[in-house]
Amino acid sequence: MFSRALGDDAELRPLEPWQAGEFTAYIDRVRDALKPWIPWAYSVVDEASARAFLQDYADRQAADTGRIFGLYVSGVLQGGIVYRAFNATQGVCEIGVWLSPEVRGRGLITLACRALIDWALNVRGMVRVEWLCDPRNEASIAAARRLGFTHEGTHRKAFHLDGEHRDVQVWAIVA
Ligand SMILES: CC(C)(COP(=O)(O)OP(=O)(O)OC[C@H]1O[C@@H](n2cnc3c(N)ncnc32)[C@H](O)[C@@H]1OP(=O)(O)O)[C@@H](O)C(=O)NCCC(=O)NCCS
Repeated sequence: MFSRALGDDAELRPLEPWQAGEFTAYIDRVRDALKPWIPWAYSVVDEASARAFLQDYADRQAADTGRIFGLYVSGVLQGGIVYRAFNATQGVCEIGVWLSPEVRGRGLITLACRALIDWALNVRGMVRVEWLCDPRNEASIAAARRLGFTHEGTHRKAFHLDGEHRDVQVWAIVA
């Protein structure tokens, strides 16, 4: 019912628990492309776990501590963007993103991030927007750079995924 246009054929829409079936089908389709970088590509494995994942975001949206949006291209779910963390008291939030391989390279995540960064800084009065990524994730680093994030440092072995303790780069935009 509600959407935010991203160019001619793409848009952001809310992604809610009732869409668990659609979300499960989407993840099943792109799981292998997300697994190197996205933890929930391992834990969202069926409709029940998809519903739990989306319900967690619904609860956090109600509490103003997180939000999730689906990125649709020509009406088909092809990616998403989250405020993975949103702390209005501290003025700090973190954005996370993903896309299906077939719609990468078009600037869609750049547009989606600009919308969320603008809302965080200019509507919600946030003072800091964070972007965390694996130092080996070149596409994510390129997106952070393109958006004007500054690399502040690297937390060593700060994150466990797929059997390895990984470093995490911290990028941020400050108001
Ligand atoms: C990270 C990820 C979302 C980036 O996707 P992306 O398509 O490269 O990012 P954008 O949508 O911003 O598009 C940028 C690309 O489109 C190109 N582009 C075309 N038109 C553009 C426009 N109008 N504006 C900006 N970029 C444009 C850019 O040149 C760039 O391509 P290049 O990297 O070949 O130079 C994607 O690689 C992904 O889903 N990876 C797996 C999940 C993941 O790693 N998530 C991040 C975890 S930290």
